[in-house]
Amino acid sequence: MGHIKPGFVVLVTLIFLSIIAYIYDFSLMPVTLPLSWFNNANQTKLYNAVSEGLSGKINVWKFLTKQTIETSTTEKKPTVSIRTEDISIHQYLAHPRNYHFILDEPDKCKQDPFLVLMVPVAPHQLEARNAIRSTWGNESSVQGKAVLTLFLVGLTGGAEAQQQLEEESRQRRDLLQSNFVDSYFNLTIKTMVIMDWLATRCPQAAYAMKVDSDMYINLENLMSLLLSPNTPGQNYITGHLMWAQFVIRDKNSKWYVPEELYPEPKYPTYVLGMGYVFSNDLPPKILEASEAIKPFNIEDAYVGACLKRLGINPSGAPDPSQFRTYVNDPKSTDLSKLITAIAGSPEKVIEFWQNVKGHK
Ligand SMILES: *[C@@H]1O[C@H](CO)[C@@H](O)[C@H](O)[C@H]1NC(C)=O
Ligand SMILES: *[C@@H]1O[C@H](CO)[C@@H](O)[C@H](O)[C@H]1NC(C)=O
Ligand SMILES: *[C@@H]1O[C@H](CO)[C@@H](O)[C@H](O)[C@H]1NC(C)=O
Repeated sequence: MGHIKPGFVVLVTLIFLSIIAYIYDFSLMPVTLPLSWFNNANQTKLYNAVSEGLSGKINVWKFLTKQTIETSTTEKKPTVSIRTEDISIHQYLAHPRNYHFILDEPDKCKQDPFLVLMVPVAPHQLEARNAIRSTWGNESSVQGKAVLTLFLVGLTGGAEAQQQLEEESRQRRDLLQSNFVDSYFNLTIKTMVIMDWLATRCPQAAYAMKVDSDMYINLENLMSLLLSPNTPGQNYITGHLMWAQFVIRDKNSKWYVPEELYPEPKYPTYVLGMGYVFSNDLPPKILEASEAIKPFNIEDAYVGACLKRLGINPSGAPDPSQFRTYVNDPKSTDLSKLITAIAGSPEKVIEFWQNVKGHK
């Protein structure tokens, strides 16, 4: 009976192909929006759609680890499809010299912070800022070292939103605003503006961290890492390392980068954008390197490209498991041992925080 009928082989092949088609269609292909929509889109709505519909990190991470995507397998939420034409239109200039601060806090660093946490956030995400302000962003001193948390936004959608933002800035004194169009696509500009602020307004800080607005951060553990005698004070960057990641050439992907912008097939080792910590001698060096590197829309990989040019390798953390992405079950995970975890929403940021504080 060692003979397999050709009909059976065809059937098995067809089933296999349908499975592939099913997975591909439902988990990897974002809904394509027409080019005109992308160009004319109200930026606030665009940002809402992208940041709320599909959290970038969820998909990058799941995509890279080839796990099934529970959140997006069943629902087709809008995301932006950036085509080659769009990228050419938006050959944007990431170097901060092209932008200036509308809201600034030039004297903040007179407090001589040891660590500055820089949070890129969309102008309308007040709830995210407030969750951080009431949790890890409210810590001004950790293990006797001064810590500062600031938010960076781009341009708002309109005059009313701008007024609200300025009022918030007067009350909180923790907002920085630069005059680039705030969008998911422009995150590389945001990161470079963060580097600019650190280099020009806060050179005295010892360390800085770029941290996303939906993150839980355990500052005690982060401080222990930074104060460890084994942690370098210069040319140091750490977090969740990404090795040998392929550049995504699928034009329908949110992380599509054309060869025109980044010709090599793989990215250099970089630190995942959710939260990377670095010695504060790096910002001016990264800015200098960025002059020679064509910007592309994947901010963390772009920083990786700048570091490669500088000959600086990202360091693995002494305990890499402390830089967590997703926490599958926050109740059974010991958040008190971590440095980062993706909370995913303002409510969760508060919940994670209270989890840890409650157990003290
Ligand atoms: C853009 O969309 C936001 C959210 O829907 C809305 O508040 C704002 O008024 C819109 N702006 C313009 C210029 O249409
Ligand atoms: C920050 O913490 C202080 C106590 O240390 C508290 O009084 C204040 O209300 C907190 N701020 C926010 C925004 O939660
Ligand atoms: C990115 O920012 C630049 C500068 O403000 C702007 O010209 C461009 O339209 C923005 N691109 C997107 C896709 O938001």
